[in-house]
Amino acid sequence: MKRLLPFVLLASAMGSFACVAQPALPLDDRQALIETLLERMTLAEKIGQLRLISIGGDMPRERIVEEIAAGRIGATFNSVTRADNRPMQDAALRSRLGIPIFFAYDVVHGHRTIFPISLALASSWDLEAIALSGRVSASEASADGLDLTFAPMVDITRDPRWGRTSEGFGEDPYLVSQIAGTLVRAYQGERLSAADSVMASVKHFAVYGAVEGGRDYNVVDMSPQRMYQDYLPPYRAAVDAGAGGVMVALNTVNGVPASANRWLLRDLLRDDWGFRGLTISDHGAIDELLRHGVARDGREAARLAIEAGIDLSMHDSLYLQELPGLVERGEVSIELIDQAVARVLGAKYDLGLFHDPYRRIGRAADDPAEVNAESRLHREAARQVARESLVLLENRERTLPLRKDARIALIGPLADSHVDMLGSWSAAGVAAQTVTLRQGLEAAIGESGRVIHARGSNVTDDAGMIEYLNFLNWDRPEVVQDSRSPQAMIDEALGAARDADVIVAALGEARGMSHESSSRTSLTLPASQQALLEALVATGKPLVVVLMNGRPLQLGWVREHADALLETWFAGTEGGNAIADVLFGAHNPSGKLPISFPRSVGQIPTYYNHPRLGRPYVEGRPGNYTSQYFEEPNGALYPFGYGLSYTDFEVSKPQLSQRKLKRGQRLEVSVTVKNRGARAGATVVQLYLQDLVGSAVRPVKELKRFEKLSLEAGETRVVRFSLGEEDLRFHDARLDFVAEPGEFEVQLGLDSRAVQSARFELL
Ligand code: NOJ
Repeated sequence: MKRLLPFVLLASAMGSFACVAQPALPLDDRQALIETLLERMTLAEKIGQLRLISIGGDMPRERIVEEIAAGRIGATFNSVTRADNRPMQDAALRSRLGIPIFFAYDVVHGHRTIFPISLALASSWDLEAIALSGRVSASEASADGLDLTFAPMVDITRDPRWGRTSEGFGEDPYLVSQIAGTLVRAYQGERLSAADSVMASVKHFAVYGAVEGGRDYNVVDMSPQRMYQDYLPPYRAAVDAGAGGVMVALNTVNGVPASANRWLLRDLLRDDWGFRGLTISDHGAIDELLRHGVARDGREAARLAIEAGIDLSMHDSLYLQELPGLVERGEVSIELIDQAVARVLGAKYDLGLFHDPYRRIGRAADDPAEVNAESRLHREAARQVARESLVLLENRERTLPLRKDARIALIGPLADSHVDMLGSWSAAGVAAQTVTLRQGLEAAIGESGRVIHARGSNVTDDAGMIEYLNFLNWDRPEVVQDSRSPQAMIDEALGAARDADVIVAALGEARGMSHESSSRTSLTLPASQQALLEALVATGKPLVVVLMNGRPLQLGWVREHADALLETWFAGTEGGNAIADVLFGAHNPSGKLPISFPRSVGQIPTYYNHPRLGRPYVEGRPGNYTSQYFEEPNGALYPFGYGLSYTDFEVSKPQLSQRKLKRGQRLEVSVTVKNRGARAGATVVQLYLQDLVGSAVRPVKELKRFEKLSLEAGETRVVRFSLGEEDLRFHDARLDFVAEPGEFEVQLGLDSRAVQSARFELL
């Protein structure tokens, strides 16, 4: 028997809002509930459900509450406490039909506890650690009354000039897809309706990471083959993992803005991929259809968006203003509106909000006294995940790990910066709760050694850049200049270095430099930091450079002159402790780059899995009339998958279970990995495939499997991978997904460049 629960009962049970008697809803039958509501709703109420309103935007909170009570808002974002969300849910339940609203937010790499930025999470190549970050994020966000996160962001990034590189998981379709599925499952938990689950809304659909020149919001134009092969798989993986939402990208996709792209949102997403969830436009994107020049006016923009398949309109008034007239004039069918509304209601149902609108808001009596209380943080998890995400790029003469009785000159504008540790998209994170590198080193070194700190330089002295960065964070300027002259700061740093055994220089970017809209034309360290670095190098002291940045930087000079180089990205709340763990050797670094580091901006793109060429560059034998730049070698400075350890690993040649593979059979690839060094450590065994001859040009290699494993000193382990026909497929010239017969090369190694290979044939 279906359970019928009158809202009035629910209302009195919660006891916090005026009761409006409504006939019972079939609460145990999703479809019946949606249909019942659709029958009862007026057109205005339906359109109200399609509006996602930003709290703190143009509309004052009191107005928002009134609008919600009038049934004119379906969901909000940017309101992040139970106490703030409760009156809005009360208002929703006071509305004529008492339909609950949901609360969304950008929980991208943590909520109150900030984990390393997404690019750093990807550097861990550790799906368990990434899942942990997702579970903690979901539990903290839901404990603040949030129902949905605008994450994961799975845009493939091959151009580090793009500021949003920091938000994604790098350049590889397979690695990013694995992470996409992992995070969707982590956010949504075993049951999406559980009080500690939040709905994942994967973004930005689609191909946003390929904006021309890495300039944000720019055009995307690419072949369908490349799109299917390289850029779409991560979104697909998120959808297949059950993501409840999809956020639509701001860019055009082959001439049509994603927000008006029927092919993308209907043919591909819904018809081919079978996505049944909610689509959400990005901020103001429907309005932007006018500026894209595909809509004459707001009316046309609203029509294009709803026809294309945008259900929920984020921070945009065109649905409200235009949809009523469009429906009345018969230009948009009511069925189209109903389908979009049904998906919004379906999402609320799946989130458990019809059964309990306060599922995540809870009772006022249980509200945390202090939302930023220390007790609400998950520091241990943050430290553990951050340690996994650090990538050791150089370590000459075993400069690292540092001795705890050392005198360390800690220098650099990022050495004691709290706010930068947070990285971008960490709005609920509190800078003061982060551990800076200085704090981390001081805590670890205790009484045995000494940390002598000097700032050394500003992040940048470029007035235009400072103005930009502080404009970005308009509520609170966060790039604060030291008023001393550059030389005075360098002199202080040299003074600190004079008394030290080793210099640790914390250099890189302010977090705002790797952010939405923060595209760069140069990837070098800002001049102020380069000058500092040159002065430090001139001391001749052992020099460890700790990089903090949100994208690959141009590191040629740094590599040449530093003794050790540790990429730490923006490492989150526990960043300083995690970095100290690695610098002193309490944790052996095992991160691997999820994106290649170019030698120069002119060389971009340097992604490892590029298609084969008729005139390829041959390493060590560059020549005229090969595909090259004549001023510098081809290939990344640091390739995809690269990262060192304090120990040495040896990998055997791959062994194959057979040389011929029949369709339907499996091929086993095994390698023996040995830890040859004197300390325990972890590494990532990476398996790449190359299709030697195809009907269309195939990449030089593609990642197909990886495994992170920890080995004690001297330990040996056999790692086995199982491959099947599905791993050999690609989208051919007709876009058919095929595995063609012929020879394949398996390449195995600890990065994408240094591999050993073996061949087999698909019959
Ligand atoms: C715009 C960004 O493109 C998107 O990633 C984000 O989720 C929304 N703003 C909401 O903050």
